[in-house]
Amino acid sequence: MTSTVKGKVEILFGAQWGDEGKGKVVDMFGSEVDIFVRYQGGANAGHTVIVEGKKIIFKLLPSGMLYPGKVCMIGNGVVLDPEQFLKELRELGERGYERARLVVSPHAHVVMPYHKTLDKAQESHRSKEHKIGTTGRGIGPCYVDKYARNGLRVEDLLDADSLRKKVADALEEKNHILTKLYGENPIPFDEIYEPARDWGKAMAPYVGDTTDLLLKAVDEGKHILLEGAQGTLLDIDHGTYPYVTSSSTTTAGGFTGTGLPINSLTRVIAVVKAYTTRVGEGPMPTEDKGELGESLRQKGGEFGAVTGRARRCGWLDMVALRYALRLNGADVIALTKLDVLSDMDEIKVCTSYDVGGKKTDAFNTNVDFLEEAKPLYETLPGWKGDISHCESLDSLPPTARDYIHYIEKATGVSVALIGVGADRNQTINLGL
Ligand code: GDP
Ligand code: IMO
Ligand code: MG
Repeated sequence: MTSTVKGKVEILFGAQWGDEGKGKVVDMFGSEVDIFVRYQGGANAGHTVIVEGKKIIFKLLPSGMLYPGKVCMIGNGVVLDPEQFLKELRELGERGYERARLVVSPHAHVVMPYHKTLDKAQESHRSKEHKIGTTGRGIGPCYVDKYARNGLRVEDLLDADSLRKKVADALEEKNHILTKLYGENPIPFDEIYEPARDWGKAMAPYVGDTTDLLLKAVDEGKHILLEGAQGTLLDIDHGTYPYVTSSSTTTAGGFTGTGLPINSLTRVIAVVKAYTTRVGEGPMPTEDKGELGESLRQKGGEFGAVTGRARRCGWLDMVALRYALRLNGADVIALTKLDVLSDMDEIKVCTSYDVGGKKTDAFNTNVDFLEEAKPLYETLPGWKGDISHCESLDSLPPTARDYIHYIEKATGVSVALIGVGADRNQTINLGL
């Protein structure tokens, strides 16, 4: 397949279990990009951007929103919670930000209030060992309706008459499930229909054919950045199922989630945190439940941007990382939060697992395999002192540079950007 692409289409994805710092990298990239696109997931994401000390957490809107004159899109693959969408827009306005122009796909599915009720009801009915620890944002139930062909799409909110019938049909089924299966109260029609009609009115100015706009933008030579949410190991197919989210978080999701053709892609950027975190349930071989985990959590501020939950922390898992980079065809790594590892006497890296007495460096998403896997570590020297003001590779302590080179050698992928702090400017750009 020969690429006839004129524009630059880059995709940025999380290479671990989410919260790698994708928001910061997207925002830092901002001035070069013409169009920013979210393509999967919904308001379960929490992408933090810090500009001159001011923090903004994007849950649904792309992290390029702070660039007036640019375009931000919500692609068809996203599940869109209209309440959250309008709230985020309102908050940006209240805080006095000028913002990018926003276009929403009419084909994005709508997260309705009953999806959130169902998400919470399902989670509370799961036995202790089967809980997923979802964000409760209605993501799973909304994607279920999409694939069952029962969903409401953004375009359905725009026609008040047909919306009435669609809401009535949906509630008939959902109320049956809520009352009969979960012992919840039924949801009254007006409680859904009236707000949904108002959401349609408020959202109408933003709805546009995102796929067509993107295809034209490619022909016009524009620079498009697809912003992944969550992380590879939370992918519905390629993650640690069932402890995953309900969308394709890998680069593949970028094509179905926007309509861009596969051969339009020009670069794949993996966002990798310098250690590992996970929020919610499911296996995590390098999790440290002791002092190290607590120290990373405190130093790294590892508390969920959406739910505030403490993130589980541990050393970098190279077995999992190599899998994620290969699976996504990563061209370069944006390595974040290197500063959090400062002042450690030594830094460990998990290079293989011991599974039932056998050493392996092959990743496997099977939950039993990962629960049994004991990480085998290589120990590297740490470095002392604050690196958060470093602006070049040369200004980093030699052992910090060694850590970066170690990652490059072990993965075969070069590091193009290093995060040394949470602010937009606390970044060493090596050519991203
Ligand atoms: P995302 O979901 O991948 O966008 O990541 P989150 O925003 O959920 O979590 C990343 C956290 O780390 C946020 O609090 C960021 O402000 C912060 N962060 C991002 N990059 C860096 C970095 O290089 N150093 C430090 N110390 N913090 C960072
Ligand atoms: P960003 O984009 C980290 C996790 C939840 C739970 C599982 C399923 O900020 O990296 P869901 O509500 O999606 O059905 O929950 O996925 N999860 C995330 N973890 N970062 C995220 O997004 C996440 N989005 C979902 O904690 O374990
Ligand atoms: Mg996050």
